[in-house]
Amino acid sequence: MSDEKAHKWIVKDPEEEIWWPSEELKKAAWVSDESIYEEAREDPVAFWEKHAEEGLDWVEKWSKPYDWDPPFMKWFLNGKINASYNCLDRHVKEGRGDKTALIWVPEPTEHDPQVISYEELYEKVQKFANVLKSLGVEKGDKVGIYLPMIPEAHIAMLACSRIGAPHSVVFSAFSPESLNVRLQDAEAKVLITADGYYRRGKKLDLKDDADEGVEGTGVENVIVVKRTGLDVNMVEGRDHWWHELMEDAEAECEPEVMDSEDLLFLLYTSGTTGKPKGVIHTTGGYLTQAYLTTKWVFNLHDDDVHWCTADIGWITGHTYTCYGPYLNCATTLIYEGAPDYPELNRMWQIVEKYDVTVFYTAPTLIRALKKGGDEWPEKHDLSSLRILGTVGEPIDREAWLWYLNKIGGGRCPIVDTWWQTETGGTLIMSLPGIGPFIPTVAGRNFPGTQHEVLDKEGNVLEEGEEGALVQMPPFAPGMLRGVYKNPERYEKTYWSRYDDKYYFTSDAARKTKHNCIRIGGRMDDVMQVAGHRLSTAEVEDAINRHEAVLESAVVPEPHEIKGEVPVAYTILRKGEESSEDMEKEIISHVGEVLGPTSKPARIIFVDELPKTRSGKIMRRILRSLLTDEELGDITTLKNPESVKTLEKITGYKGPG
Ligand code: WTA
Repeated sequence: MSDEKAHKWIVKDPEEEIWWPSEELKKAAWVSDESIYEEAREDPVAFWEKHAEEGLDWVEKWSKPYDWDPPFMKWFLNGKINASYNCLDRHVKEGRGDKTALIWVPEPTEHDPQVISYEELYEKVQKFANVLKSLGVEKGDKVGIYLPMIPEAHIAMLACSRIGAPHSVVFSAFSPESLNVRLQDAEAKVLITADGYYRRGKKLDLKDDADEGVEGTGVENVIVVKRTGLDVNMVEGRDHWWHELMEDAEAECEPEVMDSEDLLFLLYTSGTTGKPKGVIHTTGGYLTQAYLTTKWVFNLHDDDVHWCTADIGWITGHTYTCYGPYLNCATTLIYEGAPDYPELNRMWQIVEKYDVTVFYTAPTLIRALKKGGDEWPEKHDLSSLRILGTVGEPIDREAWLWYLNKIGGGRCPIVDTWWQTETGGTLIMSLPGIGPFIPTVAGRNFPGTQHEVLDKEGNVLEEGEEGALVQMPPFAPGMLRGVYKNPERYEKTYWSRYDDKYYFTSDAARKTKHNCIRIGGRMDDVMQVAGHRLSTAEVEDAINRHEAVLESAVVPEPHEIKGEVPVAYTILRKGEESSEDMEKEIISHVGEVLGPTSKPARIIFVDELPKTRSGKIMRRILRSLLTDEELGDITTLKNPESVKTLEKITGYKGPG
C-alpha cells in the first residue's frame, strides 16, 4: 500500500463496536459539526432553500419554497430550472470542461475503456437531444430507455432532461413483457435500446427483447446503440442506429426551461400488487436532494472518483451514478459487466486501476465477494479508497466488518444509506465527517429531514422498540410526487396508514443510541433480492399464469448471499404431477415473464395453502415455516389443519 494515499479516516471507540471520523476526516469533510442537525431542524425549509440556491443554477427563482396539500407536496414552486444544464453546461461555462465526467469500463478486458470529459459529454448530450427532437420528441413526451451500462445510457437520460422529455428507464435484464407493461403505462413515444451487451464473456441480445417489448405500445421510433455487433433485425421506418442519427445531428441544443414541479422521470418499482407502479419524480426538488446528498454523504471533492455499482435501471443508478455526481461536477465511473468476470477480483482491479475513492454498492455483492475469499482483494492496492457505501437492504455485522477491514483496510468509514425509489435520494445515514459508523445501523436523519418510529396508533416509540418507519413533515424535496396515473394507489400505499400526517415507508425500524436508526426490513410483501426490489405478488402472478398452476403464494426466504430469495408454495391443477421437471419449468417460466432476477429459488408443491376465513393467504405462516420461527396464532385460519401438513413438507422444526 502506498502510504501517502492510505489515510486513516476513522477511529474505533475503545469500548464499543463503533467508529468515529478521525480528525483528518473531520477536516476534509464538507460537514463535521453536529450543530448542522440542530440548525436544519429549526427551519428545514430554509435549509433546503439555502442549498437549492447555492448548489444549483435556476433560470428563475421560486416564489414559494414548499407547499403541502395532503397528500401532495411541492417544492420550489414556480422556480424554473433544467437538469441537464445543471449537470453539464454550467461546469463547462465555468471552465471545467476538461474534467473527466465519466469513466466507462467495458466488461471484456480487451476492449478499451472510455474516459469522457464534461466538454465531450456536453457535446454528445446536445447532439442526442437534437436527435430526439428530429424524431418528433417534444417537451412532456415520455422516452423509454432499455440499455445496458454503457455511456449512451447517461447520454440518453441527460438528453431527455435537456428537452424536457421525461425518461422511463427499464432494467435491461427485465423481460420483454415487463418492458411492455412499463412502456404502455408511461405512454412512451420512443425507445432507446442496444443490439446487445456483454455478460460474463458472452454477447447477449437485447434487440429481440426490445422488439417484443414495443409491440402494441405507442412507441413510434426505436433508437439502437451498436454495442456487440450482433446481427439484429431493424424495422424499416421505425428503427434507427444511434451512431447514424448522431452523425447528422446538429451540434447545439438549448436546454428547455422547466418548471420545478415538471416531471423529470418515471421509474417503475414493485409494490404489493402484481402491477408495478410508476414513481413520479419532478425536477427542482429531486435535483436539490440528489446534489446535496451526493456531496455530503460521499464527501465528494474535486479529485474524487465516484463508483456506484448500481444499474441505471434502479433509482440508485439514477441518483448516484448519474444526476448526483454530474450536478457536483464529479467524476463518475460505471462498469458494464458482471462483478466476478473474468475473475473474483474484477471490482478491486477497477478500484486500483482508476484510483476509485468512493465505492458504493449493495450488501449482496459484499457478501458474494467475501465468500469468494480474502485472497482476491489482497492482490490489490485499495489505498485510494476513502469512503465505502452500502444500500438496498440491511447489512449484517459480518459483511460490514469484512467490508471495513478487507476492502477499506480498517481506514474508511462505511456509510450505510437508507432510502427508497420513492425518496429519490438517501435520507438516513451517518455523514462521514460526523459518524457514528456502527455495523447494522444505518445512521441519522439527513439534515433537513426527520424520521420516526411509530406504533400502529401513531405513537412515537422509545429507543430499542421496533415499529414502522415514517417520515415527518416537511417532506424531503426529492420525495415522489405521486404514482403515475394512479393517485389512489399513492394515497393508499404511503399516506393512509397515518391519515396523511406522515409518509409511511413500509419499513420496520428501531431507534438506537446516538440518535441513529436501525432498519429492520419491509413490513409489506416486497422482497429485496440481491438488492433488487421485487414484489411477492408479481412473482405469484407470473407463476399463476403457468397452465399447470392453480394457485401459489410467494414468500421471501433468507439467503446467505442474496439476502432474500423468493420461494413459491404452489398448488397444481387437477391431473398435473409435481416433479423436478415441473419445478424447473415453472421457474424458467417466471424468468421469461419477469426476467432472470425474479426467478423463485425453489417451488414447494402443496395441496392447500393456509387461509383466513376471508380467504386471504397467511404468508406470515408460510414464511415462518421456512425459518423455523414461531408460527403464531393459527386458530383464526379457515383450514388450520393445513399447517400440520405444511410443517411436514417443509421440515419445520420450530423455534429453538
Ligand atoms: C431497503 C433502494 C436497510 C428498504 C435505494 C427500502 C435498506 C427498500 C437500505 C427500497 C439500507 C434500502 N438498510 N434496508 N441502507 N436501503 N433498503 O426502492 O427495505 O429499490 O424500503 O431503493 O430497500 O428499495 P428501492
